[in-house]
Amino acid sequence: MAYSAVRSEAGRAGAVLADSNDPLAPYRELFVITDPELVYFDGNSLGRLPKKTMNHLQNVIQQEWGTQLIRGWGTGWYDAPHRVGDKIGSLIGAAAGQVLACDSTSVNLYKAVMAALHARPGKHTVVSDAMNFPSDLYILQAAITHYGNTHTLRLVQSHDAELTVTPDAIAAAITTDTALVCLSHVTFKSGFIYDMQEITRRAHEVGALVVWDLSHSAGAVPMQLDGWNVDFAVGCCYKFLNGGPGAPAFIYVNKNIQAHVTSPIWGWFGQKSPFAFDIDYTPADGIDRFLAGTPPMLALSAVEASLDMLVPVGMHAIREKSIALTEYLIALYDSHLAELGFSLGSPRDAAKRGSHVSIRHPLGYQINQALIAEQKVIPDFREPDNLRLGLSPLTTSFVEVWDGVDRIRATVVAGTHHKYPAARKAVT
Ligand SMILES: Cc1ncc(COP(=O)(O)O)c(C=O)c1O
Repeated sequence: MAYSAVRSEAGRAGAVLADSNDPLAPYRELFVITDPELVYFDGNSLGRLPKKTMNHLQNVIQQEWGTQLIRGWGTGWYDAPHRVGDKIGSLIGAAAGQVLACDSTSVNLYKAVMAALHARPGKHTVVSDAMNFPSDLYILQAAITHYGNTHTLRLVQSHDAELTVTPDAIAAAITTDTALVCLSHVTFKSGFIYDMQEITRRAHEVGALVVWDLSHSAGAVPMQLDGWNVDFAVGCCYKFLNGGPGAPAFIYVNKNIQAHVTSPIWGWFGQKSPFAFDIDYTPADGIDRFLAGTPPMLALSAVEASLDMLVPVGMHAIREKSIALTEYLIALYDSHLAELGFSLGSPRDAAKRGSHVSIRHPLGYQINQALIAEQKVIPDFREPDNLRLGLSPLTTSFVEVWDGVDRIRATVVAGTHHKYPAARKAVT
């Protein structure tokens, strides 16, 4: 086992040894790291910049945009949403022709939810959970409103302070009146992993469709969208896929339902023959009907450069390191942080945990500010008290985890966080 050498009680030397035994350690060199002392615990919000992306974008700008000009659409740009989508598909268990890289996660979610509601007339409940990312809940509220307010949004509650939702609670909420089940595969605060296969099976049993948000699992947790017969999925490319700030997102529509569902946004790229310039809209065959407008080629090129590095690593190796990192962090939490007023905000069972770990503290917001300002540690903060520590298997080292926990401890022991304001800034 590659990660058997990771022992929290061995101190920093143990972390150094773990890095030297880590088969994925060389990947860190492929990313821009301007400050080796920086502990970056936020790759689950914005992944680091791959070095290759800089050269690739430079080339796309000079050779493609600068030289080819409009001819670029005939030499690779037009197909980019599919080509990049298929590469994402290989990470999420989707065969070719079912994933598009396009739009934002929020917009793709709206397209998928509206398509699902139209495909299930006569059913009047949408099931999600109260831990879901708020934008997803806003999109569900919008879709229900735009569809005519004929649906009720049923939000399943967590009974362990936003750590998990029990399978029984979800199962009980899904009834014969359920049109759609829409959940995040990995929840954004605690990192809890839902059993996607089982919930999809349960939804299908009563004739409901599913839409999964993979933003916190794509590139971090293996899954089989085709094998589990998922209907729709969406997700973002700027977290574990390292596609850059505001990178285009993706949408998956299972080939078995593609002919029976339509996007609510009838743009020309989703038309059967965009360049026939027909006045009337006829949806394109297959996944293309979920395109809307012109792809953002520069941003898409950045996503593709990152995927070309990431895809060959394989999800098995990525997950193995991810588990080793989060296990190590939790062991260090137990020995260094638990006694300082923290509580663990993520599942202890690795099988139920994605690639971030939240640690909770009543003064978490102030601690977060002190870490960024004084300790060269960048976590992020999620209300009401979560310090979210994202561990990116290709870029986070075991030494980084050790140093991060050590500096969190030093901050709280010294009490430096007390001088930071509790009032929240616009971006936390
Ligand atoms: C789980 C989840 N869903 C949806 C979104 C929204 O994505 P976007 O802002 O790209 O639409 C985010 C953003 O962080 C997210 O974490």
